[in-house]
Amino acid sequence: MNYQAKDTRYDSAAFRRCGNSGLKLPEISLGLWQNFSDNDLFSNCREILRTAFDHGITHFDLANNYGPPPGSAEELFGKILEKDFRPYRDEMIIATKAGYDMWPGPYGDHGSRKYLLASLDQSLKRLKSDYVDIFYHHRPDTETPVEESMLALDQAVRQGKALYAGISNYNAEQAGKAIAVLKELRTPFIIHQAKYSMFERWVESGLLDVLEKTGTGCIAFSPLAQGMLTDKYLKGIPDHSRAARNHTSLKPEHLLPGRIEKARKLNELALQRGQSLAQMAIAWLLKDNRITSVLIGASRSTQLLNSLQALENKNFTKEEITEIEAILA
Ligand SMILES: NC(=O)c1ccc[n+]([C@@H]2O[C@H](COP(=O)([O-])OP(=O)(O)OC[C@H]3O[C@@H](n4cnc5c(N)ncnc54)[C@H](OP(=O)(O)O)[C@@H]3O)[C@@H](O)[C@H]2O)c1
Repeated sequence: MNYQAKDTRYDSAAFRRCGNSGLKLPEISLGLWQNFSDNDLFSNCREILRTAFDHGITHFDLANNYGPPPGSAEELFGKILEKDFRPYRDEMIIATKAGYDMWPGPYGDHGSRKYLLASLDQSLKRLKSDYVDIFYHHRPDTETPVEESMLALDQAVRQGKALYAGISNYNAEQAGKAIAVLKELRTPFIIHQAKYSMFERWVESGLLDVLEKTGTGCIAFSPLAQGMLTDKYLKGIPDHSRAARNHTSLKPEHLLPGRIEKARKLNELALQRGQSLAQMAIAWLLKDNRITSVLIGASRSTQLLNSLQALENKNFTKEEITEIEAILA
């Protein structure tokens, strides 16, 4: 049956301006890193994407290598875009990236102009699109001059193949250098995508300051630490969870007893706040105005709906913040 987006989709959606740019992103965005590959059920993927869009999630995050196999997440998204979302394309922000291993030989990885521009062309074919809204350099490349990688992003925008440029996984110093080049070029550069959660706080020591000073937005990825900041691993590893499945990036050995113990205590606090731990972990990131959007994953639509309820309580008392810090210490 033809998809018709819900008329109510923006009723409870909240948006934040991305740095100093004119672009607003939803407070919660959806990523297709895992759960959207050739190994996943097409109908489930389609339902997750429809549910997201029906609830005001306008931003969908991809990369050339998402799968497996690499490229399959973009292909799947391209198919669903064609079937369901074509009439809504101007309501959507679609991002992709290049920076990890994609094809054999010296031109299929890292940060050369050759790789980045060829990869974007390949991504557009898989996405069945003329342009993406955001094109990222996925990770810093210390062998390629940063000017070369940034000029490639600039060119992608000037060619009309991307509307905005972004960087990901750059540390504070690397980001500062890249942003200086992009400012000189007057590239519409607006965003840094960084791993940030209660369990992964490296951005707090320098990067967020650089982004604030330069008017750059920040989208926080893996906010649930791939599921460890939910209640799912408190009683072992459930069937079908990311840690139980093959070809995923969360392995049973990542579920360290210390982490699970912290998750257990955080879960108790979340319940006192009337939230699930997943909801509290998302709200905790959104308490900082420097965070433009929280980039979640979901393996089914009910999970996504659960995570979206984080927006119903984003306030923390001083006591709650202190308690969270004590648990995480
Ligand atoms: N730039 C980069 O280098 C980079 C790297 C990694 C990710 N990312 C981006 O960030 C996005 C999100 O990453 P992520 O998938 O690691 O994010 P995440 O939100 O930390 O983890 C998502 C997983 O948590 C579980 N989950 C989600 N909502 C839940 C809920 N309400 N209750 C219980 N469990 C829940 C699901 O696990 P189960 O599968 O076990 O159900 C889901 O697959 C990616 O899709 C990608 O777009 C970017």
